Amino acid sequence: MRYAFLGGALLFALLGMSAKDHTTVNPAQFPPTYVPSGQEIYQQFCAACHGADAKGNGPAVSRLKTAPPDLTTLARRHMGKFPYDYVATVLRFGTGASAHGSSDMPTWGPIFQIIDKENEQAVQQRIKNISAYLASLQEDSGGVIGPTPISAPGR
Ligand code: HEC
Repeated sequence: MRYAFLGGALLFALLGMSAKDHTTVNPAQFPPTYVPSGQEIYQQFCAACHGADAKGNGPAVSRLKTAPPDLTTLARRHMGKFPYDYVATVLRFGTGASAHGSSDMPTWGPIFQIIDKENEQAVQQRIKNISAYLASLQEDSGGVIGPTPISAPGR
């Protein structure tokens, strides 16, 4: 009885292992350039500071030296147009302040390069997805700028 249980556990572990190998090597299941949606990336990496609604009041705010800006006013603050180039530059190289080590905003370029295993195409796709998601959150986009806002579940 006991051995049967152990055998079962071992079999389970082996199956688990092979299933894991499968995902890493089978490109049909997960293309090498698989990049999550902008919303998923945002909630995972940005919401802690910028807030789930991107208005700048995430749970980590009290521990920051600089308040994270409201990301839903980016278009308004850039003459009514969502600043794709600016956002891409900030994500890749950091804000001007981070270059001098005085910003709480992480420089995401090198982090995404690690996550995306040095796949430049995937890094670009990741930045594109985030930008499109942020564009969809602009306060007065009215669904015109970027894709239709995806309503977060439970709100
Ligand atoms: C640890 C907290 C923190 C996290 C996590 C974070 N940010 Fe920031 N972010 C900040 C702060 C603080 C600033 C303003 C600081 C500065 O200007 O140097 C900022 C600035 C920005 C700006 C410039 C905004 C403007 O109004 O000019 C953008 C765009 C931005 N963040 C996007 C993101 C995105 C996208 C993510 C997730 C990939 C993210 N941030 C994750 C703290 C954070």
